Amino acid sequence: MINTDFLVVGSGIAGLSLALRASEKGSVAVVTKRSLEESSTKYAQGGIASVLSEEDSFDLHIQDTLEAGAGLCHEDAVRVLVENGPQRIKELMEWGAKFTFRENEGEMSTLDLGREGGHSRRRIVHAADLTGLEVERALIKEVASRHNVHIFEYHMAIDFITRGKLEEDVPLGSPEDTCFGIYALNTEEGTIETFLSPATMLATGGAGKVYLYTSNPDVATGDGVAMAYRAGARIADMEFIQFHPTCLFHPEAKSFLVSEAVRGEGGILKLKDGSTFMENYHHLASLAPRDIVARAIDNEMKKGGDDYVLLDITHLPGYQIRERFPNIYKECLSFGYDMTDEPIPVVPAAHYTCGGVLTDLWGRTNIKGLFACGEAACTGVHGANRLASNSLLEALVYSERAFRAACEERVERSPEILDVPKWDTGKAVNSDELVVVSHNW
Ligand code: SIN
Repeated sequence: MINTDFLVVGSGIAGLSLALRASEKGSVAVVTKRSLEESSTKYAQGGIASVLSEEDSFDLHIQDTLEAGAGLCHEDAVRVLVENGPQRIKELMEWGAKFTFRENEGEMSTLDLGREGGHSRRRIVHAADLTGLEVERALIKEVASRHNVHIFEYHMAIDFITRGKLEEDVPLGSPEDTCFGIYALNTEEGTIETFLSPATMLATGGAGKVYLYTSNPDVATGDGVAMAYRAGARIADMEFIQFHPTCLFHPEAKSFLVSEAVRGEGGILKLKDGSTFMENYHHLASLAPRDIVARAIDNEMKKGGDDYVLLDITHLPGYQIRERFPNIYKECLSFGYDMTDEPIPVVPAAHYTCGGVLTDLWGRTNIKGLFACGEAACTGVHGANRLASNSLLEALVYSERAFRAACEERVERSPEILDVPKWDTGKAVNSDELVVVSHNW
């Protein structure tokens, strides 16, 4: 049995940044189902949206987020997201994340701010086109330096341990319900281990892998949200699955995303015959919000009977494309497409789970002691369609708030940790549903 002050489930940007903060206050266990770095964060290309230039304002970022969310965002949650952004980016840089800077003649260099769909200003902080990889690298390095953060790789969380599950007179998810920790399967040993904590932080990411065509890595199976649902946590907005408009179309290009930043730098969507179409759908054309672009592409593919559309950025000089998009350039080339010279074939694919475990503005769920943040949570900021590059931002902003709330509640509840029973395999039954999950990428 492992008993810690904070229990973090998941090791993407939400989980690891939370673990870093928590390590200032006590012992931390990070439970993750594969290796530490394997999370959706690692694959994020575009960047982190935040108001960092004089031409921009909090109100504009809020407005863009609300518009992308199709009227279903919670404005108070969006304001919290946007106003806390600059401070969280600064911290991330203090933790060692190295972002791309722009040289300004005769002046100090400044962060190079990119643009993506639905944004009215340049505000995307990025590390070339490998932002998530850089963020994950920096966080892992920092976490490794904290002696009180204990990492449990290849441990798959399988169930929350709650009062509602242990005591018959406490209904699941009721106001008396409390989370004490999790059972996790050690997938290397084949054993079930018990993790206890007064503060369990769920940061397990989204569910893109329930779709056949997705930009998500194999770990994005939504099991954290399912686990919370089984424990009686409230779940919201799971119907809002965002489709990214541009994944590379190639039978072997498993999940390869072509960042929206390519359109941000002037890339234009075209049909196979070279004609443009996005101006028929939205005044921002190829830079319209993501749901509109994905639906437009789908519509055009169905109308024309095509398997893909084209993304053309050949108007930029080759050296500029190679410098701004080194990874996308290299990947496309490995599949036979030189994006400096020809348009590349793209299709929409499932990309982001806008819904998740319902939280308040402090990451609290309806179960005491259980907090959720990052893609696994539904804070209300995304509405029906997340604005590009607001996901890493949400993970940073709301994990910090969940940490602060957990500190307050932990003090009140610390004597409540119980002697919980070991996992009872007798209660595990075969599902009577015939679910066949297959992925043919
Ligand atoms: C991208 O680079 O297009 C993905 C960024 C995001 O999903 O916000």
